[in-house]
Amino acid sequence: NTIINREGKENVAREIAAMATNGDVIGAGSGSTVYLTLFALAERIHRESLSIEVIPASKEISMTCIQLGIPQTTLWDKRPNWTFDGADEVDPNRSLIKGRGGAMFKEKLLMKSSGKSFIIVDNSKLVKQLGSRFPIPVEVFPEALNFVESEMRRLGASEIALRLAGGKDGPVLTENGNFIFDTRFSYIDPALEQNLKAITGVIESGLFIGYDVEVVVAK
Ligand code: A5P
Repeated sequence: NTIINREGKENVAREIAAMATNGDVIGAGSGSTVYLTLFALAERIHRESLSIEVIPASKEISMTCIQLGIPQTTLWDKRPNWTFDGADEVDPNRSLIKGRGGAMFKEKLLMKSSGKSFIIVDNSKLVKQLGSRFPIPVEVFPEALNFVESEMRRLGASEIALRLAGGKDGPVLTENGNFIFDTRFSYIDPALEQNLKAITGVIESGLFIGYDVEVVVAK
């Protein structure tokens, strides 16, 4: 990962890691900010002999936990006390676009299963209106591709692009073996999140509208 604004993110990472208390189960999203926060968390776990478990949103983050010696658990076993994650866009109402890393399904699941969620971003992620820079990623069951595409056009999608893989031919496969459409709509509102989710074949979208999150901005 290329880490933009590393110093600012490292400061916030330490701030987030400082909130961990002995016995916590912590959900960890994905992306470079989460990666840096895990380093700060590992330092505290080892220095203070804390008993903490992390539930990772992606294989990348799970592998980072293994590298750093952070114990992991699953949503089968535990519910997170709190979760931290990054975002691709944050609007003034703290609504988000996520999913650049393709892990938005588990990220949303972690957020919804958690008591409290912290979103860590630098100010390049703050936008007046969602969709200004990033498309909305939509995870789709592979064989539902054509059906989902036509249903999304019916909802008013103006752009629908199948996300292609780097380092391999063909489409990106998500953590769950599905495809991702990167989409643009002329409007973005809570109904759109619900309407996308209601299409059979859509696993989840990267729209997080009106969730109770605390946004922490790296300076
Ligand atoms: C991953 O699927 C995204 O939702 C990430 O949270 C997002 O891309 C943030 O990444 P950075 O922390 O690297 O900016």
